[in-house]
Amino acid sequence: MTEHVKARPIKGVHHAAYRCRDAEQTIWFYSDVLGLVDPTGVVIETVPGSGDDDPYLHLFFRMGNGEFLAFFDAPGSADPEWFARKESFDMHWAFEVDSEDDLLAMQERIQSFGVSALGPVDHGFVRSVYMYDPNGIQVELTYRMKDHDAILDNETKKFDTTLAEWSRRTRAMKEAKFGAEAIDRRSRSVAA
Ligand SMILES: [Fe+2]
Repeated sequence: MTEHVKARPIKGVHHAAYRCRDAEQTIWFYSDVLGLVDPTGVVIETVPGSGDDDPYLHLFFRMGNGEFLAFFDAPGSADPEWFARKESFDMHWAFEVDSEDDLLAMQERIQSFGVSALGPVDHGFVRSVYMYDPNGIQVELTYRMKDHDAILDNETKKFDTTLAEWSRRTRAMKEAKFGAEAIDRRSRSVAA
C-alpha cells in the first residue's frame, strides 16, 4: 500500500476561470449588472507552458468573501462555438446572497438591465434565480433557506447508501456509454 502524505486543508476557491468573448462585455454583466466592483486584470503576451504567442487578458472579479471569478479574453485561440449557451448540468455556478430579500432585489435589478432572470426556484435548502452571462454560462443567485444545514446534514448521514445504490443503478449504462475503463476511479486522472 502506498503511503500518502496527509491532505492539507483546502481553504476555499481562489478563482474559477472561464473564457469570455470580450472583457468589456463581461465587465458590463458582472460589474454593471451584478455589482462586482473594481474588476482587474493583466495582459499576458505568451501562453504559460507552451510559450505560444497568443496575447490574452486575464480578468478577475473579486467577490465579497475575497474569492475570485476569472476570465480569459483570448480571441486568438477562441472557438466562437464555445460561447453558445451551455446546459446547466454541463456548467453553471451559483453566487450566494444573504437573504430572500437580497435575492428578489437582485432579480428586479437584473431584469431592469434587460437580462432575463428566471425564478425563484425552491430547492428545499436553497432558493435561486437563474440567468445567462454574455458567454453562454448559466449563472445562479441563491440564498440558504432556514433548514439548509439540517437538510444537508441529514443527506450526509445516508450518503454512503445513496451513492452505492446510485452506482449500482447506473453502472451498466455508464459502461455501455463510456467503457468500463473510463469510469475506473483512477484511470482518467492518473494517466498522463
Ligand atoms: Fe446550482
